[in-house]
Amino acid sequence: MQWSVLSLALFASNVQALLRFSCSQLVVERLDPLVNPGTIGSPHLHQIIGGNAFNASMDPQIAPSDQATCTTCTFAEDFSNYWTAVLYFKARNGTYKRVPQKGNVGFEQSNGGMTVYYTPSYNKGKVTAFKKGFRMIVGNPTYRTEAQAKKYRQLTYTCLKDMNTRTGETMDMPKQPCKAGIMSNLRFPTCWDGVNLDSPDHSSHVAYPSSGTFESNGPCPSTHPVKIPQVFYEVIWDTTKFNDKSLWPEDGSQPFVWSYGDATGYGNHGDYVFGWKGDALQKAMDADCNINCPQLKTQSIAQGNKCAQSMKLKEDIDGWLTELPGGMPVTYK
Ligand SMILES: *[C@@H]1O[C@H](CO)[C@@H](O)[C@H](O)[C@H]1NC(C)=O
Ligand SMILES: *[C@@H]1O[C@H](CO)[C@@H](O)[C@H](O)[C@H]1NC(C)=O
Repeated sequence: MQWSVLSLALFASNVQALLRFSCSQLVVERLDPLVNPGTIGSPHLHQIIGGNAFNASMDPQIAPSDQATCTTCTFAEDFSNYWTAVLYFKARNGTYKRVPQKGNVGFEQSNGGMTVYYTPSYNKGKVTAFKKGFRMIVGNPTYRTEAQAKKYRQLTYTCLKDMNTRTGETMDMPKQPCKAGIMSNLRFPTCWDGVNLDSPDHSSHVAYPSSGTFESNGPCPSTHPVKIPQVFYEVIWDTTKFNDKSLWPEDGSQPFVWSYGDATGYGNHGDYVFGWKGDALQKAMDADCNINCPQLKTQSIAQGNKCAQSMKLKEDIDGWLTELPGGMPVTYK
């Protein structure tokens, strides 16, 4: 399925405001403080960016900005954590190799990581920034069909012909080699129930607009009346060294699988733990900052690269592995 996407030029003319910034890798490991709190060795591997208060469990009563001593993000007051699964290449001999990540155009110096956006609103309406303790998940790692994946409207892949490709988003993994890599795009829901900082499934306290889209300024449903910024991750997987089709499965299918055992791509999901210091994010949203934001403190990408954690569970994630980390089985439908 194809998504028609606003080009950056359209963004620039229609939107008065958005924050767009780079966060380098904090750590790649099997921790999941939302779904498996307290467990060292969650079922699947994640790549995590943001503040170094990230841990196996994260108490919602404690602001990450009070615990963290550094962040990998270029907005220096952002101690949030953002994470996704990790992409692996499956070789013909059945072994798995982790696919490296790379920075976007302009963010090439970053150590892996992602590009993060916060968009306040497509007209100048007021938007309520997240509160201390807020967290959410978009997508579902058990999904393997397009019908399921459609529940989350805006989890897609871009087959990068070059680093500026921004059209042709699909909901499933690209089926042909992508010259410059595969970008996974995760846009979170933009309406909040106004009460709950989290929910048992980490998703039902947020919702999509009841008609239209966030981009068309659709209204929030009455159950989730509070407009929140649109959080959006772009993650670029540098698949280029696996593009030779002689390395691909002999039946012509694509060779990439997610660390949660998904060869379809429909289980795409992302996690968010809010951690901006004080009201810095609200200020930035109110100021209608566009990309950069003089109201916020920044640090260089090089400084962000210095913030890192070591793995709490030491295991090989980078060799030619006989199984995915944690022994996660792969499913194809
Ligand atoms: C992570 O949690 C453990 C206890 O579960 C604690 O000892 C440690 O200091 C925490 N690390 C960070 C970076 O907060
Ligand atoms: C499996 O295939 C990969 C890629 O061709 C290769 O690098 C690796 O050494 C192979 N492993 C085994 C055990 O044959």
